[in-house]
Amino acid sequence: MKNIAVLASGRGTNLQAIIENIENGTLKANLACVISDNKDAKALERARQHNIEAVYIDPGPKKTWLIPEVEQKYVQALKDRNVDLVCLAGFMRIIKTPLLEAFKGRILNIHPALLPSFPGLDVQRKALEYGVKFSGCTVHFVTADVDAGPIVTQAAVRVLDDDTPEILAERILKEEWRIYTEAINIVLSGKYRIEGRRVIRT
Ligand code: GAR
Repeated sequence: MKNIAVLASGRGTNLQAIIENIENGTLKANLACVISDNKDAKALERARQHNIEAVYIDPGPKKTWLIPEVEQKYVQALKDRNVDLVCLAGFMRIIKTPLLEAFKGRILNIHPALLPSFPGLDVQRKALEYGVKFSGCTVHFVTADVDAGPIVTQAAVRVLDDDTPEILAERILKEEWRIYTEAINIVLSGKYRIEGRRVIRT
């Protein structure tokens, strides 16, 4: 069984879905640890409740990214636990060189929009304001360009006239819980190849 780690900054509902899908056998992986940049993250509490190692690593001085010395601590923690695949699930930091290099092609992220539309933050509000009729979520490989790596899988949801950003986010989230497991299974199986930007199943 391959080892995964989840990096999460907040509430951790995607983490919860991953834990439950491992427990019910849908997700074929071992969750080696959950790491957070926020010591009060609900995600850490969820991990502890399921006897999964919960690790807080002080994010240091910067708000949106980790300085290399700090990011190296994340790398070390992942290596110490023989992690094969890193899954960002609401981890609100831009990933930079030390981690990208140490886990090249082995970091996934879930994003609550149909990329390449609406990268960045507050994207459910942006999708509503733009007036799109469908939005959704994307699981992609993490590369140096933010929210722009090769796409493993996506799911679409309807945007309804009386949606608020919160209602839309909730509808998207239910699909996130489902497709993250699907994407992790694909990547861990190794049955894919990447051609240009395309992730093609083999
Ligand atoms: C999810 O909607 C995830 O797609 C999003 O944060 C939320 C975390 O929820 N991630 C991003 O916006 C990354 N830029 P969760 O903590 O309940 O899993």
